[in-house]
Amino acid sequence: MIEIKNLTKKFRDKIAVDNLSLIVRPGVVTGFLGPNGAGKSTTLKMIIGLINPTQGEVKIDGKNYKDLIRPISKIGALIDGDAVNPKFTAKQHLELIATASGISIGRVEEMLKMVGLDKVKNKQIGEFSLGMKQRLGIATALLGDPKTVILDEPFNGLDVDGIHWLRGLTKELAEQGKSVLVSSHLMSEIQAIAERIVVLAQGKLIADMTMEEMTNKSLSTYMKVNSENNRKFKSLLEKEGALIQSMNDEELHVHKLDMKQIGIIARNNNLAIYELTKIQPSLEELFIELTEGKADYVSNVESKERKGDRQ
Ligand SMILES: Nc1ncnc2c1ncn2[C@@H]1O[C@H](COP(=O)(O)OP(=O)(O)O)[C@@H](O)[C@H]1O
Ligand SMILES: [Mg+2]
Repeated sequence: MIEIKNLTKKFRDKIAVDNLSLIVRPGVVTGFLGPNGAGKSTTLKMIIGLINPTQGEVKIDGKNYKDLIRPISKIGALIDGDAVNPKFTAKQHLELIATASGISIGRVEEMLKMVGLDKVKNKQIGEFSLGMKQRLGIATALLGDPKTVILDEPFNGLDVDGIHWLRGLTKELAEQGKSVLVSSHLMSEIQAIAERIVVLAQGKLIADMTMEEMTNKSLSTYMKVNSENNRKFKSLLEKEGALIQSMNDEELHVHKLDMKQIGIIARNNNLAIYELTKIQPSLEELFIELTEGKADYVSNVESKERKGDRQ
């Protein structure tokens, strides 16, 4: 579990992370989204003590990173652009870390197999593709079987097989009860794995909720309705609080009522329904809506209060 409280990082006059609070819980994959430059990597680096916060704090299982006993067994991280010695082979790289941390060499072999690098374990890392480096980074992160796992843009450079494999792996880690935080600048990558989504833009938290809540809150979600008498149905629905945006009577675009409510209104008025479809924005549209700040998606009260403070 990671608890981030009022975390801020300033690089001279640039605010990379702006008063961020969030909790990464065990047993679920939390997607950490935001456009490039949003402050994701800076946040992840503060979690593992690579960067000192200007303000605020991060707790891992209730402790600061530097106070963790055997941190490799508490939190594992793949950090964007992490330095590794290109002269080492994958096996040497992992064995060095294992030896320094009192982890068995058997675990190294196990991790090499798990990330699919078994056959190239004696190759120098300098010859690795980006995808292979990502796999090695993931093996490194998981070497100590940590309870919390943070992966910064882990899908970068992976091919179709790699993406499929990593999706399965992140879900499996969450099922094992681990707290999993995965960053990406692409909504499509996160959608397939994350139960909860956290969105950053310009260092600020702009959304923190489940994928389902996010879609339902979107201004672009509506019910497409067609019935035997749309003109009549339109006025009936409006009476029940619907907001209808269609330009003609050929189909109704109904906001503010759900499918069940619409179905019941039709039945009570003896109207046959020809079509009732929930139209949802594509994830990319949703992401744009979010990052342009058209809607307030931050569900937790504390963040709302902070937003209010700044106005
Ligand atoms: N070491 C640094 N010095 C100065 N500015 C930095 C440094 N690291 C990151 N930044 C700036 O902070 C902002 C957030 O960067 P980053 O956390 O890397 O974003 P993301 O990972 O979401 O793409 C960017 O504007 C970036 O240029
Ligand atoms: Mg980054």
